[in-house]
Amino acid sequence: MSNQNVTYHEYDVVIVGAGGAGMRAAIEAGSDTKVAVVSKLFPTRSHTGAAQGGMAAALANVEEDSWEWHTFDTVKGGDYLVDQDAAEILAKESVQAVIDLENMGLPFNRTPDGKIDQRRFGGHTRDHGKAPVRRSCYAADRTGHMILQTLYQNCVKLGIEFYNEFYVLDLAMNDGKPSAVVAYELATGDIHVFAAKSIIFATGGFGKIYKTTSNAHTLTGDGVGIIYRKGLPLEDMEFYQFHPTGLAGLGILLSEAARGEGGILRNASGERFMERYAPTIKDLAPRDMVARAMANEVREGRGAGPNKDYVYLDLTHLEPAVIDAKLPDITEFARTYLGVEPYTEMVPVFPTAHYAMGGIPTNIKAEVLSDNDTVVPGLYAAGECACVSVHGANRLGTNSLLDINVFGKRAGQYAVEYAKTAKQVPVPKNAADEVISMLEKVRKAKGKEKVAVLRRELQETMDKNAQVFRTEETLTEAYDKIQELRARYENISIQDQGKRFNTDLLEAVELGFLLDLAEVTVITCRERRESRGAHLREDFPNRDDKKFMVHSMAYLKDKAQKETGSNIAIGWKPVVVTNYQPMERKY
Ligand code: FUM
Repeated sequence: MSNQNVTYHEYDVVIVGAGGAGMRAAIEAGSDTKVAVVSKLFPTRSHTGAAQGGMAAALANVEEDSWEWHTFDTVKGGDYLVDQDAAEILAKESVQAVIDLENMGLPFNRTPDGKIDQRRFGGHTRDHGKAPVRRSCYAADRTGHMILQTLYQNCVKLGIEFYNEFYVLDLAMNDGKPSAVVAYELATGDIHVFAAKSIIFATGGFGKIYKTTSNAHTLTGDGVGIIYRKGLPLEDMEFYQFHPTGLAGLGILLSEAARGEGGILRNASGERFMERYAPTIKDLAPRDMVARAMANEVREGRGAGPNKDYVYLDLTHLEPAVIDAKLPDITEFARTYLGVEPYTEMVPVFPTAHYAMGGIPTNIKAEVLSDNDTVVPGLYAAGECACVSVHGANRLGTNSLLDINVFGKRAGQYAVEYAKTAKQVPVPKNAADEVISMLEKVRKAKGKEKVAVLRRELQETMDKNAQVFRTEETLTEAYDKIQELRARYENISIQDQGKRFNTDLLEAVELGFLLDLAEVTVITCRERRESRGAHLREDFPNRDDKKFMVHSMAYLKDKAQKETGSNIAIGWKPVVVTNYQPMERKY
């Protein structure tokens, strides 16, 4: 259709994304299968590298623990929206996941007798909530970084093929079955079609719908957006996690490990306010509760600083040697970005958009699900882009590095198993056409609007209207603003008309995905008229198990839907309950 170069490749398994989930899948798939990893970023720049505090696993190396307690904490932490069969797998397979990483060479911190050390994290408890338990394995406050490096080294050792800085923009389907992904090569501007029997999406999250976020610039939800544009559902998109301790005003992550090691949250008058909100486990309550408590302190006038708009993380009572050994990176962030010395001064913090609990629906084999839980054959998803759903309405800290290892591995296993017997679905002749015309449209656009301006306005409206507290009114304001931004997006132009390393073009395309995902987030938030986990509706402050103990499934439709007042249709599906009936969530 144009003079665009298109190169065809054929593999058994193609993995989109080279973060922790993608590379863990690759290692599992890689030994006797033809595997390619196609990634927007060089693998060791993936966002897994920003995960700090640890990876949960009931090893019981330092305190009594069990996978059953871990399952219970995950279910309760997720405010009972967790699929309990999946949570059981997460907790049971956690131990092997840690051993796998150790065998691959990951340098975990050690106890004096040489075992893998473990630290406390929010919501992880001994014996069903009695007290915090030391469950999170860690490598200082660089656990994600170490996982990423370790996985990459092992992929290299196995000879996995990487296509780095290849931006996947479409999934080619044929008769409802996936046949290939279509990617744009950043260095050349060329288009590549990767045919595969099995395709795994491991593309991470979409924190950039918010302004104040711990997420990197690249976290624009492309994989989730591609699936959504194919008419497949997205699950539980109303549940977005705000990590309590972002550096105030910046959102840069200060690991919960700081509280795991004894750090305390204080308001302007120095009060340890979490004693009022979670008397048993205080600062180590789950993130949704802590973030809400912090936002509430600020709202009720007990915030610190000239604008009274943050609280403090106090580490001043910890030994400097402990800080240096266990929290070296985050304390350096406080010095570098806020000029605060954590040995002697309290660090200003406020909740920051951190993690999507929702995403591409999958089952426990990491198979992507369509209507009525029908498996899309040959299509898999794992990691933050997926919703299996082990995090429910609120993820526990350090369950995400665990999730990428457990379900990344499963995705690799099942994708290979499928690829061994499946036939390649024929790739439609025009597979690349849509991507080519989308890119040409953006490149040639002559409109007045600037991508950076639209993105900023989107992020500001999400921060203002769909952050820790939400109401029908704020969500409608956000929805209306997104519609305005969509109209203006049709009138953009970019400066760089070239083909090589055209990041201008890339950002324009990414904004399209951000607009889609922000819209789904806002609509699902509006439709869930209850409060649960990270989703706090001030106009519906209670959890409503009768009506809403269900997952939301959001679909893109051509026509406006009466129910949602948008072109998004919402379905609901039951939560899988095995052992734990919903209870009041006290800590
Ligand atoms: O606080 C942290 O170190 C983040 C961990 C996580 O999101 O699991």
